[in-house]
Amino acid sequence: MPQNKKPEDLRSYRWFGPDNMRGFSHRSRMKQLGYNREDFTGRPVIAILNTWSEINPCHAHLRERAEAVKKGVWKAGGFPVEIPAFSITETYAKPSPMLFRNLLSMDVEESLRSLPVDGTVLMGGCDKTTPGLLMGAMSMDLPAIFLPAGPMLRGNWNGQPLGSGTDLWKFWTERCAGTITADDWLNIENGIARSPGFCMTMGTAATMTALAEALGFTLPGASSIPAPDSNHVRMAMGCGERAVEMVWQDWKPSDFLTMESFENAIAVDMAIGGSTNAFIHLVAMAGRLGLKLELNRFDEIARRVPVLADIRPSGRFLMEDFFYAGGLRALMGEMKDLLHLDVLTVNGRSIGQNLEGAKVINPEVIRPREKALVESGGTAVLYGNLCPDGAVIKTSAATPALLRHTGPAVVFKDYNDMDARINRDDLNVTADSILVLQNAGPLGGPGMPEWGMLPIPKKLLPSGVRDMVRISDARMSGTAYGTCVLHVSPESFVGGPLALVRDGDLISLDVENRQLNLLISEEEFARRKAAWVKPEPKFKRGYQMLYAERVTQAHLGCDFDFLHDKMETAEPEIH
Ligand code: FES
Repeated sequence: MPQNKKPEDLRSYRWFGPDNMRGFSHRSRMKQLGYNREDFTGRPVIAILNTWSEINPCHAHLRERAEAVKKGVWKAGGFPVEIPAFSITETYAKPSPMLFRNLLSMDVEESLRSLPVDGTVLMGGCDKTTPGLLMGAMSMDLPAIFLPAGPMLRGNWNGQPLGSGTDLWKFWTERCAGTITADDWLNIENGIARSPGFCMTMGTAATMTALAEALGFTLPGASSIPAPDSNHVRMAMGCGERAVEMVWQDWKPSDFLTMESFENAIAVDMAIGGSTNAFIHLVAMAGRLGLKLELNRFDEIARRVPVLADIRPSGRFLMEDFFYAGGLRALMGEMKDLLHLDVLTVNGRSIGQNLEGAKVINPEVIRPREKALVESGGTAVLYGNLCPDGAVIKTSAATPALLRHTGPAVVFKDYNDMDARINRDDLNVTADSILVLQNAGPLGGPGMPEWGMLPIPKKLLPSGVRDMVRISDARMSGTAYGTCVLHVSPESFVGGPLALVRDGDLISLDVENRQLNLLISEEEFARRKAAWVKPEPKFKRGYQMLYAERVTQAHLGCDFDFLHDKMETAEPEIH
């Protein structure tokens, strides 16, 4: 690619170049850090935006990895500066990590805008960090490359592999059913997270880093490398080098991201059996570029894309196996005819060029097309009178027999109500019931927590019930499974139809026809709607109040309405 910039054209030169009082001040403070003028003036300044934190185990290695990025930046003739970015730790951030994705995106955008930097390497991977980093970088639109944190190694219990989340749910259910001991439970706790890196099932982290690669935002193959692998160190160095080149070439997200890039990401999401959370994040990301991605587009693409990755929770293996099987490049190589191969990527080459030579090493893990895990429609978008703006179900992780089901509702008005009653012996529930959770959406949760995989009532466990139809306006962890209808929009907290469901109402789920309906008369529907009372807002101060006032519904990506568009980037005046 041609070099489009001279040293004096660099954005950072506005801070460090001028022979005036401000220029003096900016240079002298870099010298305070021990650098010479020629180290940082007229060289691409690369912001390494690092979501490392001691409270984020998925990113435990990123402090060290930033040093590898710096080596790459120096090697290519740039000047690295490591800058902390808000670390959203999926395990600990309450009330819901999703509440903070937009905050991270604003942190990224404003850090890049306010500081003397020319380009950025974005470091993250734990669920919301990937979309948060990418959304901020897309809004600011400086040259940017994403360094995925990488999955952790397989878990281990008595020689059997354990998967993050997926096996937690599975063995918790068994513990509740009394089929494993307290000692087993302790040993599972000891063995399920053995190294740095993000969850190694096809959860939201593995999904979103794979989609970052499918969008063209990473170096080829980057998203599949396990965090502790030395390939990951070399890839980090490569990101630093490439970021410097991108600055000279003035190669920005808006130069390579198109609607076709997002369609590729959706197709890859289906082929990996990805997390349903991807729907929300992709809609929000596309919005930052002014692209309107509608839920129907996901459904259309899902209908023609098979699930090829045999990874939990939809399949059998884990991300470490996926890497040894050839990784995402190999999987994308299997589905070339379903991708737009001409779209460009962060390295200046097309997706098609980046896939040259990719091959599947283990067809058990990355299935050939004729042996797909699910032939098509791994995730479906539903409409109907219960979800006029849509809802989502991951069919590849559901029980096929339940995909067409009519049953009476057992309604929980919020999470606490569900927690208090779900295991009571007097709960009026059978295997045919449909569990409904209200007030768990973007505003009701708040922050749309991952409560969508409601637990199976304890009284049904002894009879072998392990799955039921469950419906909510919540999200579901990508590591979770079951026949769970999620993201019902509009949510119950704002008066969506889900708020009107009552115990005993019949609900009909028909995935083949993409329908979800509450079977009550129109008159009764209208009567209940008129009687609905708007709840009190949950937040009264600070960021959370801003969130409550400006967040959009699930089908619009839960972005802030004032960020959900492409706007002219305002460069700061330098006084
Ligand atoms: Fe970080 Fe799962 S907790 S990715």
